Amino acid sequence: MKWLAVETSCDETAVALAQDEEVLLARVASQEVHARWGGVVPELASRLHQKTLARMVPEALAEAGWRLGDLDGVAATRGPGLIGALLVGVSYAKGVAVADDIPFVGVNHLEGHLWSGVAAGQEMPLPSLGILVSGGHTELIRIDGFGEYTLLGATLDDAIGEAFDKVGGLLGLTYPAGAALSEMALKGDPGAHAFSLPQTRSPLDFSYSGLKSAVARVVQQSDTLQKNHLAAAFEEIAVRQIVNRAELAMSQGSYRSVLLGGGVAANGRLRNEMELFTAEHGVDLLLPPIELCTDNAAMIAYVAQRSYRERGADPLTLEADPNLKLLDIAS
Ligand code: KG4
Ligand code: ZN
Repeated sequence: MKWLAVETSCDETAVALAQDEEVLLARVASQEVHARWGGVVPELASRLHQKTLARMVPEALAEAGWRLGDLDGVAATRGPGLIGALLVGVSYAKGVAVADDIPFVGVNHLEGHLWSGVAAGQEMPLPSLGILVSGGHTELIRIDGFGEYTLLGATLDDAIGEAFDKVGGLLGLTYPAGAALSEMALKGDPGAHAFSLPQTRSPLDFSYSGLKSAVARVVQQSDTLQKNHLAAAFEEIAVRQIVNRAELAMSQGSYRSVLLGGGVAANGRLRNEMELFTAEHGVDLLLPPIELCTDNAAMIAYVAQRSYRERGADPLTLEADPNLKLLDIAS
């Protein structure tokens, strides 16, 4: 079975080709245009997806030596994300499905992130503790199988990636600032500022807005700002919150692996901490390669094929849903 998958939920236009659950080719075009606005401009994102997708799909097919008529299925991310952006990918995929008379599958973006390590060829012993950390999400999820997910905790306010981006903005970095902030942090002393770990009523939930405000106060009150120290202290506590919640989840359930997914899974400090954490607990760690941590269509292609095998095709009336929850997956 030959599948085409497209991902247009935010500011990455991504295309992947997969055959028999193996991803053959995956391409991502990041929309640089948003940097000057300090965040994603939805209208611009939709327009660019439309233009870029029309170029990327034929290019990917040509590179694989496939023609549109060779496809056995087509998939698109159906949510969560920006509605205008999602509609571009979903409508494109439905168009291909109609033209080729092939099955269409709408994929939940969050489910994609959960399986990105597996899409990269890694083994996932179950049950697995999923840690989803991105610009829009900070979630702890128990995974018992494909489509069998239990939400254990989530952020009550900002997502961790959003905190990296906002703090990066305070330190003069352009959006998205996570990777650059992490570079700065390497040159700083995490002990230079003592930020506290937030308590949440439900101890597996997260909170990042207080930390962002605490950093903002330091910025306002300092005459000679040591940006590297501030970046290091922020990153240390932002990552410690993840490890702290993961530690608690681990003590409450029996897991055989831990997986990281989402853009912030590219963070070096988080990756190192999770390596130590899983070694200590004697469980496997699924760490997707960096290009599969951030938004990509390889994970969408993987989930689409499994979804088709286990749940069948989706009707062409299936709607893009900007607020889709992980647990909305029909099983
Ligand atoms: O998964 P993703 O590409 O898009 C969403 O679904 O949100 O994640 C993007 C987020 C951005 O907030 C970006 O700043 C953050 O991931 N990010 C990082 C790093 N690389 C990307 N945050 C911290 N450290 C990094 N190395
Ligand atoms: Zn994402």
